[in-house]
Amino acid sequence: MQNIEWEKLPFGYFKTDYNVRSYYRDGNWGEIEVSSSEYINIHMAATCLHYGQEAFEGMKAYRGSDNKIRLFRWKDNAARMRESSKGILMAQMPDELFYEMVTKAVRLNEKYVPPFGHGAALYIRPLLIGTGVQVGVNPAKEYLFMVFVGPVGPYFKEGFNPVTIQIVRDIDRAAPLGTGHIKVGGNYAGSLRASERAKAEGFAAVLFLEAKEKKYIDEAGPANFFAIKGNKYITPKSDSILPSITNKSLMQLAQDMGLEVERRPVAVEELAGFDEVGACGTAAIISPIKKIVDRDTQKVYEFCKDGKAGPVSEQLYNKLQAIQYGKEEDKHGWVTLLD
Ligand code: PLP
Ligand code: COI
Repeated sequence: MQNIEWEKLPFGYFKTDYNVRSYYRDGNWGEIEVSSSEYINIHMAATCLHYGQEAFEGMKAYRGSDNKIRLFRWKDNAARMRESSKGILMAQMPDELFYEMVTKAVRLNEKYVPPFGHGAALYIRPLLIGTGVQVGVNPAKEYLFMVFVGPVGPYFKEGFNPVTIQIVRDIDRAAPLGTGHIKVGGNYAGSLRASERAKAEGFAAVLFLEAKEKKYIDEAGPANFFAIKGNKYITPKSDSILPSITNKSLMQLAQDMGLEVERRPVAVEELAGFDEVGACGTAAIISPIKKIVDRDTQKVYEFCKDGKAGPVSEQLYNKLQAIQYGKEEDKHGWVTLLD
């Protein structure tokens, strides 16, 4: 194994030693296979290649100060993967198989779980694809579920330093009654044009709006959006955003801290009155936002005037990470220790 500079890890692909796979055939999931190949061999008419039968998850394994490895709310990821499967008519994955494969992939690559104290974690990428052959537009009869892992640093290169994002109206990530609420590859394909343009224009991510009226905030690229206003934690309610497990956790932590939680449509104009805003997700953790520029009107909303994350965002970030790395009591039963 090469020497890894844990604190310098970007968020990206990192080759590890093994991945695990299970094939769904004749209505049943097969034996878990361990592979050291980074490649899969699939039919050229597999539905994942033509009709987007693909869903994935994003989770992390954290090594605590006690050197133990922790998974965070894995059952929520398993449940969300089943929702994604339902949404695009793929085979469903039972909790037990999901857990067995995720833990096996982590254990087999244990040496790549970053040591405590470097702000890094082992990213876990479960993915499910239609491998059955179809040329007409039909769901596959066969599927492949696999899990690969790799050590990562923060999603945005800024880490916990505030980022600048861009509101766009000429490209939608998801339709109101479409697939925005599930984690399927097509949503990400649909977001690429906007996010690459935003990056070229100097922004870390896009703030997508609800597609029908373009009045309300949906989500921030690969992360949910939240705002702090006085004693309130405010986050969008929308049918076209991914129900983020990080956001769900932050809502609970905010409540524990005595904040009032509001999950409701959030109008763009409200940005002017927020004290702090941020993006949250497994990969992004919390990314404080210092500036939002509306690409159409050129209106600018500014936060973090001193260049630093706001106090509530910082408290939430510290609390969440303390639980994930086992530094603080896990009151809500979110953490699973791998033994
Ligand atoms: N929204 C989108 C579009 C995402 O891809 C992600 C990442 O998984 C999130 C939100 C955050 O979700 P979670 O906190 O469950 O990782
Ligand atoms: C995550 O936060 O886990 C994600 O999946 C985001 C992105 C890399 C798609």
